[in-house]
Amino acid sequence: MQTILVTGGAGFIGSSVNLLLNEAGFKTIVYDNLSRGDSRSVKGGLFIEGDLFDIESVFKEHKIDAVMHFAAFTDVGESVQHPLLYYKNNFVGTLALLEAMEKHNVDKLIFSSTAAVYGIPTQVPINESAPINPINPYGHSKAMIEQVLSDLKSVRSIRLRYFNAAGGDPHGIIKNYKKKENNLIPILLNSLKNNSQLVVFGDDYNTPDKTCIRDYIHVADLAQAHLLALDALMQGAPSAFYNLGNGKGYSVLEVIETAEKVLKRPISYQIGPRRPGDPAVLTADSRKAIQALNWKPRFPELEKIILDASKALP
Ligand SMILES: NC(=O)c1ccc[n+]([C@@H]2O[C@H](COP(=O)([O-])OP(=O)(O)OC[C@H]3O[C@@H](n4cnc5c(N)ncnc54)[C@H](O)[C@@H]3O)[C@@H](O)[C@H]2O)c1
Repeated sequence: MQTILVTGGAGFIGSSVNLLLNEAGFKTIVYDNLSRGDSRSVKGGLFIEGDLFDIESVFKEHKIDAVMHFAAFTDVGESVQHPLLYYKNNFVGTLALLEAMEKHNVDKLIFSSTAAVYGIPTQVPINESAPINPINPYGHSKAMIEQVLSDLKSVRSIRLRYFNAAGGDPHGIIKNYKKKENNLIPILLNSLKNNSQLVVFGDDYNTPDKTCIRDYIHVADLAQAHLLALDALMQGAPSAFYNLGNGKGYSVLEVIETAEKVLKRPISYQIGPRRPGDPAVLTADSRKAIQALNWKPRFPELEKIILDASKALP
């Protein structure tokens, strides 16, 4: 049985992938410092509480076949306010992981990258040949690791550039315990729960209804892509990088309207100012992943994404 080390596996995406790995018959070790995640989300495998900077102990004690690396801080706004926090945790923390992998001859890695490495795109949908041009410390911290991975010969890696991860465990087993949300759908659900007003950041964008358009990808579809990427590495595939999105964008107002229909409740919102650095439209061209990994997103409908996100509310 192969053992997969899942860093950040108590978080939103890592916990879904951990569950799927266990269902697929892998042995997993979830390693998370619980700074942003919750151990109740770990459904399967061995859970070890620890920080990336101490991760070598795991390699000393366990035989690891491959690593899936989700552990990172993920809030763009926070990264602008506290860049050192992001460079240290996401960049230096990942170097500690890569050093441990190299030292213990673990040569397969799936890395959580992001659409933020592209910055403001010159055209959409974005394909992988678009320039890497991040515009905030979060995006830079991920792009810098991507550069390290393309230079590193001792580790074969698949870097997955997620667009807007959303939804929730379709079976409602994993709850989303995130303390601070920075994605539209969970923020919207929280505003309903707390009877507070949702703020739409800007209604003067160059889009049909003037609000930002994003590509929402169901977390279960992301999880599936990780298993396919792992399989590719196990079959000897060379290092690669792929976008993961649905290729279809929804505006903020379309998300609100759809949520009202799915949840059968009116959503109160107000228009606020733009957030600095928010591109008008971000959508993925994911044909490379679809072809190379034989990836087929099963839940592209926004209705299903919102419904499953609502089921994941604790
Ligand atoms: N959610 C998205 O839309 C999205 C989009 C693109 C990329 N990503 C990337 O996907 C990955 C997972 O994102 P998520 O949404 O599940 O975030 P999350 O915050 O829910 O999960 C991250 C987990 O990593 C843990 N962690 C952070 N720093 C750590 C450290 N130094 N040592 C040990 N554990 C640590 C946290 O406690 C948390 O459980 C991240 O790398 C993120 O950058 C997410």
